Amino acid sequence: MSELKRILAVDDEPSMRRLLEISLKQAGYQPVLAADGREALGLLRQGGINLVVSDLHMPGMGGLKLLETMREDNLETPVIIVTAQGEIATAVAAMKLGASDYILRPFDLETLEIAIDRALSVTRLKIENQFLREEVTRDGKHLVGESEAIQKVKRAIAQVAPEKATTLIVGETGTGKELVAHAIHRSSTRSKSLFVAVNCAAIPGEMLESELFGHERGAFTGAIKERVGKFELADGGTLFLDEVTEMPIALQAKLLRALQEGVIERLGSNRPLAVDIRVLAATNIDPLQAVKDGKLREDLYYRLNVFRIDLPPLRERRDDIGLLASHFMQPRHLKLDPAALDILQQYDWPGNVRELANVLERAAIMSNGDRIQAQHLPSDILGNTPVRREISTALEENATLPCLPDAVEALEKSLIRAALKQTGGNKSKAAKLLSISERSLWYKLGIYGNPDESTQNPSVKT
Ligand SMILES: Nc1ncnc2c1ncn2[C@@H]1O[C@H](COP(=O)(O)OP(=O)(O)OP(=O)(O)O)[C@@H](O)[C@H]1O
Ligand SMILES: [Mg+2]
Repeated sequence: MSELKRILAVDDEPSMRRLLEISLKQAGYQPVLAADGREALGLLRQGGINLVVSDLHMPGMGGLKLLETMREDNLETPVIIVTAQGEIATAVAAMKLGASDYILRPFDLETLEIAIDRALSVTRLKIENQFLREEVTRDGKHLVGESEAIQKVKRAIAQVAPEKATTLIVGETGTGKELVAHAIHRSSTRSKSLFVAVNCAAIPGEMLESELFGHERGAFTGAIKERVGKFELADGGTLFLDEVTEMPIALQAKLLRALQEGVIERLGSNRPLAVDIRVLAATNIDPLQAVKDGKLREDLYYRLNVFRIDLPPLRERRDDIGLLASHFMQPRHLKLDPAALDILQQYDWPGNVRELANVLERAAIMSNGDRIQAQHLPSDILGNTPVRREISTALEENATLPCLPDAVEALEKSLIRAALKQTGGNKSKAAKLLSISERSLWYKLGIYGNPDESTQNPSVKT
């Protein structure tokens, strides 16, 4: 953090400016001087000022007008107002306009220093909080990934977290929607209050209503006790509606009303309860398609979709697979073989990050706590990389060949071709992919001929 040292002293009286300049220097600050509000504004807009000490009455633009304009311009630099004994009322007006403090004239150096210290410590705290918040979301336990796609998601979280805006999080299963919802809550001003999640797909329709809104005793058959709903529980905090398109349409209407009015009623009661809730919703299907299919009310869609975060499927951010794999293996102190990582990076991950976590969990057990190698990966993943698919095709094509050496040769050729194709002709990478040395790849190419020469790929590297 840069040191907070540059202080702008604003006063129309040259002698007063001089006094402030000397006092500030004496206290170890770097004073910048201005003769009225207008000049001060010009300097503030250039940036780099950490605090303002300003007189109230000045020709041109006075202290109050300066505060007002700063607020309109979103200039958040703290301002200390210097005022005379009989002018407390104006000082109070200045505080209402956002001044952080006032001091009475005449003042001694100590009073000035104390006021400056206090104002700057608020600034320090603000910077620190922001930093800590960013740290939390950067922590490995949270949203792992450096791909452009994930960075975009992280920026969106930072942008929307401080607002109350309802946010719709869209992404395939296992892409991290709930994780994003948590991150938004944690980075918001509501982080000290509850994060309450409701999975709309997991709770049968008739129970979901009382789950959300609660009920009074005797509200319906079986309601032997009163029940506090998730809305009440999340008051002051965040309510996460997972798989929101699975909510019955009739209940969607009630949800919409609750969101619009900020008021709910328990089942069996007509006592309205005001709730202060930030709603996050998630879906793994295209919400607009859900609207078309009549699964999601259009008006509710617009209410939820104030801000939207799309989580890309893992196959569209393969760069993150290595990072995620290390993240999941870290607690076990396991290492991943480069060949195994290669295979993970080629697989399409229909279950996304959750599937990756599960696969590694299983592989860790298979590896007996040693390095995770390709052979520890489940067969459906091994069988689904391009090279493996090539094996299957080659086996099928050559199944009718009369003798073993011919079949082996045919298979070798097609695998080498597949590996070279996949690595863009890079022989050292192709050899790795085939788990043979580069030398034996060259040797085999010598026997079979180089498939590169029959393709017209000008970018082939050797
Ligand atoms: N970027 C990521 N970094 C670290 N862990 C992740 C990341 N994305 C997902 N995970 C982990 O993967 C698992 C699935 O994530 P999550 O439950 O948030 O997905 P989801 O999109 O809500 O899935 P579903 O649609 O099936 O409910 C969780 O264990 C989560 O911690
Ligand atoms: Mg989920």
